[in-house]
Amino acid sequence: MFQIQIDGSTKHFPCAPGDTLLRAALRAGIGFPYECNVGSCGNCKFELLEGELQSNWSDAPGLSDKDRLKNRWLGCQAQACSNARIKVREMEHYAPVHLPVQTTASLTHKRAITHDLHEFSFECDAALSFASGQYALIHFSDVPGPRAYSMSQGGGSRQRLDFQVRLTPGGLGTQKLFSMPLGEKVRIDGPYGMAYLREDAPRDILLVGGGSGLAPMVSLARGALSLHTRPFQNIHFIYGAREARDICGLDMLNELPLWASMGHYTPVVSNASVDEVLTPDCERGFVHEVVQKFHAHDLGNMEIYFAGPPLMAQAMLKLLVEHKVPMNQVHFDQFY
Ligand SMILES: Cc1cc2nc3c(=O)[nH]c(=O)nc-3n(C[C@H](O)[C@H](O)[C@H](O)COP(=O)(O)OP(=O)(O)OC[C@H]3O[C@@H](n4cnc5c(N)ncnc54)[C@H](O)[C@@H]3O)c2cc1C
Ligand code: FES
Repeated sequence: MFQIQIDGSTKHFPCAPGDTLLRAALRAGIGFPYECNVGSCGNCKFELLEGELQSNWSDAPGLSDKDRLKNRWLGCQAQACSNARIKVREMEHYAPVHLPVQTTASLTHKRAITHDLHEFSFECDAALSFASGQYALIHFSDVPGPRAYSMSQGGGSRQRLDFQVRLTPGGLGTQKLFSMPLGEKVRIDGPYGMAYLREDAPRDILLVGGGSGLAPMVSLARGALSLHTRPFQNIHFIYGAREARDICGLDMLNELPLWASMGHYTPVVSNASVDEVLTPDCERGFVHEVVQKFHAHDLGNMEIYFAGPPLMAQAMLKLLVEHKVPMNQVHFDQFY
């Protein structure tokens, strides 16, 4: 076990062999900035002042050549080889609501939601506590680096975790998962993520998911509707798919006791041809266009959550900035 000292602070934390500095800091309750946890966003950058580290992924896109020259590292990829002193801007906002833990888990169920989006359930050896909307890392054998997947259940302390995963053509992790036999074991590490349910926010909820971004939005809807006191009147759920055959999620929402009185679901298809007949409730275009069309007038009065590919997330963010929505009402994960 190595000790990592944060420069200019009294705080330090232990980092076990094989763990990364980011995850070890979060396990110790420290607000180490991050987002994706998988080497892509660059939010977990820090400077090494003393000590020796090694990177799990030296070419990770979250770090530029200039960063490397300045002895900057990615917290989500750096492992300690000695005690170390680092410079990082610790922020309370990133302090975990549930401390992340590591457990082994076996695949117990799988089912198809659409042709390329499947649900996978894992039974963990130890229960994992998480807030609705959070994600975990799955380490597959023979795949370099873990992959991030959001739990689709409402938050709580759970031994079984459900994930809804879209098959990425040529993707190493998803190919492994889609061909995995029941009973096979993986290592799960979590929870992570800041786009979790703000239970006390006294505003209607807008949930926007694109493609593989279904699971965290379903989790948020499940979590919000199971609250004992609900400080909102409506949940608007907008789901963006490429084609009509990709539309999904409504059956899971319809199972929720209060959905019929509080929920509103709008599917959106981006690649439908002009002569393709869609169901009457289905919109054409991109999710941010539908948000603009139906909610431009009341965005400032909503608690807004979204998840999906970076292009979708950027378009949503631009729209919300244009509408001057206070950023403390906006919570999102970009799926790198
Ligand atoms: C916060 C978050 C939540 C997500 N939630 C979901 C979800 O609920 N459902 C869903 O379908 N998808 C989700 N994703 C996307 C998912 O994590 C994968 O990126 C996607 O499934 C493709 O994985 P792949 O292994 O098949 O593709 P690949 O192209 O093989 O891998 C892409 C991913 O692996 C990482 N990676 C690639 N090479 C290495 C390496 N050498 N070392 C370490 N890491 C490497 C990349 O950063 C990238 O994240 C989420 C992503 C993030 C960041
Ligand atoms: S959190 Fe490390 S690169 Fe995104």
